[in-house]
Amino acid sequence: MDGFKLTWSVVVLVGLLVTTVNVAAWKKDEFRRCDQSAFCKDTRNREPGSSNLEVKDLKIADGVLRARLVPSDAGGGGTTEQGGGGGEEEGDLVLEIKAYKNGIVRLKVTEEKHPEKRFEVPDVLVKDLEDKKLWLQRFVEKDDGSSMVHLGGHDVILQHKPFQVHVKRGSDLVLSVNSKGLFNFEKLREKKEGENWEDRFRTYTDSRPYGPQTVSFDVSFHGTEHVYGIPEHATSLALKPTKGPNISSEPYRLFNLDVFEYISESPFGLYGAVPFMLSHSADKSAGFFLLNSAEMQIDVLASSWDTTPSIEMEGEGGSSKLLENGNKEKIVDTHWIVESGVFDAFVFVGPSPKDVVTQYCAVTGTTSLPSLFSTAYHQCRWNYKDEADVAAVDAGFDEHDIPYDVLWLDIEHTDGKRYFTWDPILFPTPKEMQAKLSAKGRHMVTIVDPHIKRDDGFPLHKEASSKGYYVKDSGGNDYDGWCWPGSSSYLDMLNPEIRSWWADKFSLSSYVGSTPILHIWNDMNEPSVFNGPEGTMPKDALHYNGVEHRDVHNAYGYYFHMASVEGLLRRGGGNERPFVLSRAFFAGTQKVGPVWTGDNTADWTHLRVSVPMCLTLGLTGIAFTGADVGGFFGNPDPELLTRWYQLGAYYPFFRGHAHLDTKRREPWVFGEPYTTLMREAVHSRYSLLPYVYTLFKEASVTGVPLMRPLWMEFPEDISTFERDEEFLLGPSLLVHGVYSQGATSETVYLPGTQKWYDVKTGATYPAGQKVNVPVTMDGIPVFQRAGSIIARKQRRRRSSTQMETDPYTLVVALNSTYEASGELYIDDGKSYDFEQGAFIHRQFKFSKGRLTSTTLAPVKTGSKVFTTSCLVERIVILGVRAKDLAIGKNAIVEHDERRIETDIGPPLLQRGASSTALILRLPNVRISDNWSIKLV
Ligand SMILES: *[C@@H]1O[C@H](CO)[C@@H](O)[C@H](O)[C@H]1NC(C)=O
Ligand SMILES: *[C@@H]1O[C@H](CO)[C@@H](O)[C@H](O)[C@H]1NC(C)=O
Ligand SMILES: *[C@@H]1O[C@H](CO)[C@@H](O)[C@H](O)[C@H]1NC(C)=O
Repeated sequence: MDGFKLTWSVVVLVGLLVTTVNVAAWKKDEFRRCDQSAFCKDTRNREPGSSNLEVKDLKIADGVLRARLVPSDAGGGGTTEQGGGGGEEEGDLVLEIKAYKNGIVRLKVTEEKHPEKRFEVPDVLVKDLEDKKLWLQRFVEKDDGSSMVHLGGHDVILQHKPFQVHVKRGSDLVLSVNSKGLFNFEKLREKKEGENWEDRFRTYTDSRPYGPQTVSFDVSFHGTEHVYGIPEHATSLALKPTKGPNISSEPYRLFNLDVFEYISESPFGLYGAVPFMLSHSADKSAGFFLLNSAEMQIDVLASSWDTTPSIEMEGEGGSSKLLENGNKEKIVDTHWIVESGVFDAFVFVGPSPKDVVTQYCAVTGTTSLPSLFSTAYHQCRWNYKDEADVAAVDAGFDEHDIPYDVLWLDIEHTDGKRYFTWDPILFPTPKEMQAKLSAKGRHMVTIVDPHIKRDDGFPLHKEASSKGYYVKDSGGNDYDGWCWPGSSSYLDMLNPEIRSWWADKFSLSSYVGSTPILHIWNDMNEPSVFNGPEGTMPKDALHYNGVEHRDVHNAYGYYFHMASVEGLLRRGGGNERPFVLSRAFFAGTQKVGPVWTGDNTADWTHLRVSVPMCLTLGLTGIAFTGADVGGFFGNPDPELLTRWYQLGAYYPFFRGHAHLDTKRREPWVFGEPYTTLMREAVHSRYSLLPYVYTLFKEASVTGVPLMRPLWMEFPEDISTFERDEEFLLGPSLLVHGVYSQGATSETVYLPGTQKWYDVKTGATYPAGQKVNVPVTMDGIPVFQRAGSIIARKQRRRRSSTQMETDPYTLVVALNSTYEASGELYIDDGKSYDFEQGAFIHRQFKFSKGRLTSTTLAPVKTGSKVFTTSCLVERIVILGVRAKDLAIGKNAIVEHDERRIETDIGPPLLQRGASSTALILRLPNVRISDNWSIKLV
């Protein structure tokens, strides 16, 4: 054992999973556990070192390293004979190692003999990925029986016997695959006499016509104690171990399901799946992405998860030799169990958390830049009953002076749950209804789900069935499942031809009653099937080209979402940004549209868990996310609802929503003081829209999310690694929700070395420690980071579109060196003209008593320009020297020597706040100009 000390060493992630919270509504028994799934049951308990593959015939062709993986005659380093050698007639496994620019390595294992059956997920990787490919030239054969490829800054080490892959950055081992010997790829085979491949669960039988085809393997993240990612689960941000001594939990399941009344603190799979895991420690971050849309189950293994100390599988060239210090390395081992498909994995070498997310998004795409209106507040309910109800809710917002941008209609607006139709009694004049909203700069969203009512009088159904566009059941007939309309069929969205056909259904002529301000919501697209196994489609249902639903399940909702977005794009002639919200998601969803966390509940635990859920989505590239404000099921009391608005104002996607059976809860329903409190919460979002939109722009370029765990900005601060009660919105705002009834104070951890300013009062708090912050119903703790500048628009309007020409307020928060900086991105908020250079990107800097504004936009290359005449009406400076905080101070706009008035006041005109800020009133410089203002 001496040579391999590090393997079973310290992982401090000990902590028991709270596996059962007793919520009667959650029908736990209706969902499979690992031991109730044929593919998971046996695989989960495989012995470490049981993998029995070695690398043969290594060569480089077309810039790619290729080899065969064949069973070893003798188990690697051990003595067990496993299944004998050869196996040639079965077809070998083919290994490919590829590299892409900026720290991305791809490892792929496929089955040589059955390429057509082993499904590979299309339309997830970015189209230009292959342009970033690095052409591998040579590899170095080493004496220890491994081969190494140098990739400038990082290396890939392929150990031959047994097969293992190690990725290093510099001399630092970052990630290994199969170092625990769990790699197993079940090759397709002939059914033996008397063998039964069926998989039964409750009353359902999965025929499993192709038999076992599991792909499973271990991934080890070195030098770390924390892993994150693999949504969607209602659980903590740092993933707790699921297996190990004293820990027995289900693995994290990735299987898109419509779970009725889900509970928090559960590894149970919800609506979407992104098979991307990140690790982080004080000195490095790394990532691992498996491009595979079949069901998977992932164990995060606790330290000493297998205490059997007999693992000698490193053989001659063991991984221990790759490590400089063999003692007690921190490591997190994970075990991935995938029902079918291939092993197509990407390793991201970091080194920072932002680098890892950027590398992942270089492969799967970044969040598409949303329309400005969609970053504002949305009002939804199942259901706004009729046109009069819509008008009354719309008027209610104006009457109570609460801004909102979008009114949503759920399923009841349709004629009998036939999407693209309107109930003729309740919504007789949809165009006029939309025109009234449009006149106030508002928009509307209607729901369009993937289940199509099987009704011969419904043209959409007639056309889809006659064209053969539905998913088929295992017997080859149109799959018929039960959903909102009753008997329904499901379009085969894997097929690009069907997606294109579907996209045309969104044209103004085809979607009768729609207008250009109408946008879309895709719900139930896991897909949800009320009478299907686990509430979804059977795995042996068939898509085009004979692809089993088993293989494509987790991406079905993504393809549906993609087709709907394509529809709105076509409707707008390709130059209007579509908005389509989806409940189901997969890797790559970010480039299509936003998602929300599904059908949550109006209780404090769901308010709390919304933060780690949205943070996790952001880490896995999906930046445009939020939870239903108020909670979908149940009736929030006014305190909970207010707290939810106060937190939701900082979700990237901000929507109030409620179930059909709940009481009305529009923000004025509870009366005062709640109406005022919710108005202020919504207004706080509107005032931050310039900042939020700038962050969306950043996400669309780099992939870095809006909602960030503290360690994304403060990667070395180990006390942030498990924190998920607070988060950063962009680099400059720290938000901590209030998650309990009657709270009078909150303990907030403020990272870094520079102080933090309470955004409302300007009061300062020290960094690098937990602080006790008093809270009232007036708001939740929100802080601006010292050293930052945030652009706001403070005037209250009816909607974001009416704020277009409003002047800006710049809030300058000085740090210990009396400096600060910040950015602002502006464009027309709706078209793609920014791609041709039609945008403004400013940088503000405060230093030595002078605030300057310069451009960050590249020298013009595009053919279009964006201009705005917006002015800066106020500059608020927090943290000035005492001598500067004196009446009579002057400020001068330097290019025209114009003197501007200064004042001392509260930072944001907040009632009751003390006067701690220096205010420059009406500087009236243009936001788009170069200027400098000096304090004298
Ligand atoms: C497991 O629990 C037992 C009893 O509480 C304890 O003695 C033991 O140290 C625990 N093992 C680990 C690895 O935590
Ligand atoms: C203060 O802020 C400026 C601008 O953001 C930054 O360049 C500087 O490093 C900061 N100073 C300290 C001590 O953090
Ligand atoms: C602002 O300065 C940049 C160079 O930093 C220059 O290219 C640009 O023309 C200036 N803009 C105006 C409006 O003067």
